[in-house]
Parts: sequence; structure tokens; C-alpha cells
Amino acid sequence: MKLPSAFTCCLLALVLPHLVAHAATGAELFTATCQACHQASGEGAPGIAPPLTGTLARRAALPEGRAWLAQTLVSGMTGPITARGEPYNGIMPPFAALPDADLMAVMAYVLAQFNASTAVPSAEDFAAARARSVKPSEHRAQRSRLLAQTGE
Ligand code: HEC
Repeated sequence: MKLPSAFTCCLLALVLPHLVAHAATGAELFTATCQACHQASGEGAPGIAPPLTGTLARRAALPEGRAWLAQTLVSGMTGPITARGEPYNGIMPPFAALPDADLMAVMAYVLAQFNASTAVPSAEDFAAARARSVKPSEHRAQRSRLLAQTGE
């Protein structure tokens, strides 16, 4: 019978590319989703996005800091902040549409590549972040508390 084999063929053509596509690495995800604002170097750009270099290791060392980083990716971030002495007041979109595995991979890349840190927010951190709805002002207040805690 011709029809089922043609059908199988079509199905394979649809499914195979997905099967052979490899999981995106943290570096690839950073290039695709973060670099436009935070720059390839992670140094950010004045008036656009803060640096991710050397500013996150101490926060990532704290459980509540990792929870905060997970929340930043899930909910995005907006409103006035200061990073390395420079003011920023931009908009980071939420990345809740990406699966946890991608969010974890890109955060691991940012922490390892730009902050010499092996810490990574856990699957539990991302699940809790997805379950929570946090106001931008509250998210920034938590950032201030964390920075006071790490002495930054
Ligand atoms: C459209 C621009 C844009 C994109 C894309 C973007 N960000 Fe951001 N990001 C920002 C801005 C702007 C802020 C600061 C928001 C504010 O001023 O409150 C920020 C803040 C952050 C912070 C907190 C920095 C700190 O000092 O507390 C982290 C961490 C971060 N971004 C990581 C990422 C990662 C990882 C990605 C990619 C998945 C990403 N961002 C994509 C614009 C962006």
C-alpha cells in the first residue's frame, strides 16, 4: 500500500530534524537571547543594560540570590537600579517561554563565563519563580537587600 509509507515518510521528515537538533548550549542561548542588550562581553551598554560581569558571583553564592536570579529570567526586570556605580532604568523582557533547561544553561554560562562562579539556580528555584508573581519594585527591593547582604 502506497499511502501509509508516504505518510510515514512525511512524518519522519517532520520529526527527524527535531530529533537530530542538539540541545542549545548556554553560550548559544546567550548569543541568541541576551547578547543584544548585555553585549557579547557581558559588559552591558550604558543606558541600555547593566553589566553581568563580576557583579553576580556573591549573589549567586546565596540560596536567596540564586532564587532572585531565577526570578529575573522568568519575570524580567524594569525600573531604576545602579550597577557598578552606573544608573540603569531599562526593560528586560521575561523569558518564561524558555524551558527551565535553557534558563539554567544560560544562567550557568553567565555565572561561569563572566563571574568565575560554578553556582547555578536549581530546577526548584525556577519552579518557585514560575509560581510566584513579583512586582518590579519588589524585585528591585530584593536586589537591594541582597547587595546589602553581600556588601556590594
Ligand atoms: C532587551 C534587553 C535585554 C535582554 C534581551 C536581556 N536583558 Fe538582562 N537586563 C536588561 C536590563 C535593562 C536590566 C536592568 C533592568 C532595570 O534597569 O531594572 C537587566 C538585568 C539583568 C540582570 C540583573 C543584573 C543586576 O545587576 O542585578 C541579569 C542577571 C540579567 N539581566 C541577565 C540576562 C540574561 C541571562 C539574559 C538572556 C536570557 C538577558 N538578561 C536578556 C536588559 C536585557
